[in-house]
Amino acid sequence: MPQGLQLFPQQASTIAKHVDWLYFFLIAVTIFFATLVCVLVTFFMIRYRRGTKVDRSNPVNHSTTLELLWTGIPLVLAMVIFAWGAVLFYAIQTPGQGAMEIYVVGKQWMWKLQHPAGKKEINELHVPLGKRVRLTMTSEDVIHSFYVPAFRIKKDVLPGRYTTLWFEATKLGTFHLFCAEYCGLGHSRMIGRVVVMTPGDYEKWLSGGGNEEPLEVSGERLFQRLACATCHREDSKGRGPTLAGVFGTSVRLKSGASVVADESYIRESILEPQAKLTAGFDPVMPTFIGQLGEEGIIQLIAYIKSLARKPDSSAPPTPPTSH
Ligand code: CUA
Repeated sequence: MPQGLQLFPQQASTIAKHVDWLYFFLIAVTIFFATLVCVLVTFFMIRYRRGTKVDRSNPVNHSTTLELLWTGIPLVLAMVIFAWGAVLFYAIQTPGQGAMEIYVVGKQWMWKLQHPAGKKEINELHVPLGKRVRLTMTSEDVIHSFYVPAFRIKKDVLPGRYTTLWFEATKLGTFHLFCAEYCGLGHSRMIGRVVVMTPGDYEKWLSGGGNEEPLEVSGERLFQRLACATCHREDSKGRGPTLAGVFGTSVRLKSGASVVADESYIRESILEPQAKLTAGFDPVMPTFIGQLGEEGIIQLIAYIKSLARKPDSSAPPTPPTSH
């Protein structure tokens, strides 16, 4: 189709055509019923206009068949749309294993993105073709929304918590990135682009220019500088729990409840250590509010994650649930 006649933006991710099929279905249903109503209104208007000699005696005031039909058909249609939408929503929510991780921080008025190898970008995201990319997103100030129409993905980016999105690009090229939530005076300028490259070009781009260090290395330095290691010791004799292997596991809390140690839990435990205290430990950790920006917190999380990936042999990860 010529560019000007396109109904939707081009499809450039694995999920795009599935989202479009649902929209086509919704449009088809809408057109069908809108046409039906218009045709009937016109037909009755002409047939029963004043002065025509049509039979107006004995008006129908009840028809069980009709009532069942106009209740049943919309019910079935609504359920089809619900089930279809739910399946798609679930697929969009679940990145699956082995996705490449990108951290996104929104602020008035720009997007700050960081690759696992440490490379940073502003308002621009370079990704390899055909690889799953998972975005972990947060905001430094107000609510923003990360929106790439060609990928059919959009999600709010919120201060004080992490939201995630994933996509797998299927086309090379450059695609619009928008902020889709009014976030103040510069909202309309909060735009950028996603550049999809071949995996080879992406590797070249990653290694080119600059001496970035991986996020987890920056995180480890921060961990030392803030003296986290004095309490979170590797030998589990510290005043805080050992962090090796903790990411992604279930943590038993003092309150008796359990929580999965994900990004949000670690973030909360850095800023509000007493909110969800690990069982067996005293509330001695100070808050780090005001000492760490969102990017610092992300670095620390990357470091703690890396501990989970390659556990030190001297400190084998013990499942905290067996307590
Ligand atoms: Cu950020 Cu609109």
